[in-house]
Amino acid sequence: MTCTLLILAGTTEATGFARAAAERGLSGIVSFAGRVERPLRQPLPQRVGGFGGVAGLVAYLRETGITHVIDATHPFAVQMSRNAVAACAEAGVPLVALTRPAWVQAPGDDWIHVPDIAGAVAALDRPAARVMLAVGRMHLEEFAPNPQHHYLLRLVDPPKGPLPFPRAEVIVDRGPFDAEADRALMARHGIEIVVSKNAGGTGAHAKIAAARALGLPVIMIDRPEPPARREVHDTQAVFDWIAHSGTDLGV
Ligand SMILES: NC(=O)c1ccc[n+]([C@@H]2O[C@H](COP(=O)([O-])OP(=O)(O)OC[C@H]3O[C@@H](n4cnc5c(N)ncnc54)[C@H](OP(=O)(O)O)[C@@H]3O)[C@@H](O)[C@H]2O)c1
Repeated sequence: MTCTLLILAGTTEATGFARAAAERGLSGIVSFAGRVERPLRQPLPQRVGGFGGVAGLVAYLRETGITHVIDATHPFAVQMSRNAVAACAEAGVPLVALTRPAWVQAPGDDWIHVPDIAGAVAALDRPAARVMLAVGRMHLEEFAPNPQHHYLLRLVDPPKGPLPFPRAEVIVDRGPFDAEADRALMARHGIEIVVSKNAGGTGAHAKIAAARALGLPVIMIDRPEPPARREVHDTQAVFDWIAHSGTDLGV
């Protein structure tokens, strides 16, 4: 049996898996939501944009003859993950999630755990401070209730419109980042608090390590609950799972 993979992407891990799959000569399609203006070039064909909910994804799986779905989306992209589980069940296509374990608090970390973005906004209801707000472009509006802070934003693309708070500085950059460079960045900007999603993985961990080195508190947003599904944590485990399904990987 030959395979046609659908790789749900938007993470460093998805790009790494796509590269490894291409090196093995596997066929597949890498899918992006279209949130960033210039997605990284992929070694496999790519498509951009939503599928149109569960029904749209079921139709897509059937039309393109997808044999395996690898959900390598960000742990906070839970709508896509739920849709993928439901669509694969309906279309009879096997699915695995390539996930990264959540970060765990280590000695020296000063974390304030909050359950979601609203919890982070509530935790910032305090006197003015210099805040590194590392939550991505889509959630900035939600922080409007705390305009007293000076925000440092690091975004993949420049903001589209005016920011929802008066004092902010934007750095346009994309990971993976370096802990020592992030420590220097935070020191230069006089950062007092960091707000982060618990993304896990290595690409975004630099700011967490930097906050630890500087003794700064981190408002850490816990992950949403993922749907029930098979999960693996590395590329080889995905290949093993594909091979188990009776597909000849040619190695
Ligand atoms: N959320 C984050 O913090 C975060 C951080 C870094 C990267 N990302 C990446 O950004 C993308 C969007 O994240 P999100 O949190 O907005 O997702 P989401 O809320 O779970 O998904 C909303 C909708 O966007 C579409 N979508 C999401 N990921 C897609 C993909 N890989 N390919 C095609 N359509 C996709 C789907 O639309 P339809 O229902 O129309 O199919 C989905 O229902 C994902 O690829 C994710 O890996 C997210």
